[in-house]
Amino acid sequence: MPGVPSLAGMPPEFITLQMILFREGLRDAPPMPQFAAGLTDADIEALAGHYAAMPPEPPEDRVPRNEALAARGEALAARMHCGSCHLPDFSGRAQMPRIAGQREEYLAEALRAYRDGRRVGTDTQMNAAMYGVSDGDIDALAHYAAHR
Ligand code: HEC
Repeated sequence: MPGVPSLAGMPPEFITLQMILFREGLRDAPPMPQFAAGLTDADIEALAGHYAAMPPEPPEDRVPRNEALAARGEALAARMHCGSCHLPDFSGRAQMPRIAGQREEYLAEALRAYRDGRRVGTDTQMNAAMYGVSDGDIDALAHYAAHR
């Protein structure tokens, strides 16, 4: 649903790590901390395995593809090496999430949050990647990834 990311096909390490961050109070993205509270490491690993095994599908309410915006996003993604971490098909790997086919408004908000210092991961790689990127470029990157 709007603002909530799809979990299907996420690398299990990404889900595990984020759930531990929520549980330990190191990442606040309401209402997730309350759902992570009290889960054991084994519970979290089981949840991660469950969602990782589900085939990802684009949302039913996906915004139609805009060729010009997607082309701008593709050129930016190549220049900014998004695929070196998220893999060339954007399927993600280890602690790097799948962004292919993810909800567009979620991606755009996540990228703005990294840029503006409202979201910090376990490291600052995304904050560095998004430093100084314009809103227009963020919208193009989000549109392109949402349509991969
Ligand atoms: C140096 C490696 C690296 C590069 C380059 C990189 N990312 Fe990331 N990205 C990560 C990591 C690691 C995370 C998880 C950070 C966290 O814990 O919040 C992440 C998280 C994200 C998220 C959050 C997704 C979610 O489900 O919450 C988005 C969106 C994203 N990256 C998009 C991009 C885009 C677009 C680019 C290119 C402009 C890019 N990334 C470049 C490593 C990278």
